Amino acid sequence: MDGPTVAAVAVSAAIALTLLTCLLPFLANYITDFLPKWSGFREDVKLIDVDLPSTTDIHEWFVDGVKKDPSRNFQHSSCTKLDHPGIEKACPCVLEAFHTPDFAQRCARALGLQSLQLNSAEVDVNCIFLRRYVEGDFLAFHYDNNFSRGVRYTAVIPLHVTDENTSEFIMIDAKNRIQIIHIPVGKAVVYNGWQIRHAITGQCKGGERIVAVVHLYTDASMNWFGKWRKWARDITYRRLSL
Ligand SMILES: [Fe+2]
Repeated sequence: MDGPTVAAVAVSAAIALTLLTCLLPFLANYITDFLPKWSGFREDVKLIDVDLPSTTDIHEWFVDGVKKDPSRNFQHSSCTKLDHPGIEKACPCVLEAFHTPDFAQRCARALGLQSLQLNSAEVDVNCIFLRRYVEGDFLAFHYDNNFSRGVRYTAVIPLHVTDENTSEFIMIDAKNRIQIIHIPVGKAVVYNGWQIRHAITGQCKGGERIVAVVHLYTDASMNWFGKWRKWARDITYRRLSL
């Protein structure tokens, strides 16, 4: 090969390598977040008692909430979401109740673990968030992502549920059966959402369900690949309205 041809091959190889490097975390996220894993059974979803913050203005919390548009996210989710900065501004009582080492410890005890760690908002604005489901809202089956060095668990705490509510937490167990896990107000569930495929069923007219979701980790720290995958996830969430 002559000089210009060698240079062209080298440049093409460099471009291909750069593209592959950029795509790698997206591919890793797809593989870890969507491909089937060993699941659990409904007994692996632990129910705990919770004390709710007293409030009368819960609907005002969502003034700055972000409505997720299912036509932009492949019918993955439809709901209104409030992340940590939004909660801090609208309803800090939720942080005081559930984004605390004490709450993490109670979840750890329910799972038979020594301890669980919280993430900070500086690391992930979704370390705790609220979701509100009104008519037509839902969350499709999915696994929770995990970018940490440890195991990721998720706590779901209903804060407000109307009598008409049809948005229920469901999971697919290890025998491929759909299990409906009813979570009354005053209780919460904590489970390994990275291993257990789960969803929220569609909301009916007049129904409303507001929940807090807290991320918990056996080790919340991230290695370089976890940080890289989180970078890719943040882009995906913004682009797809997730
Ligand atoms: Fe989830």
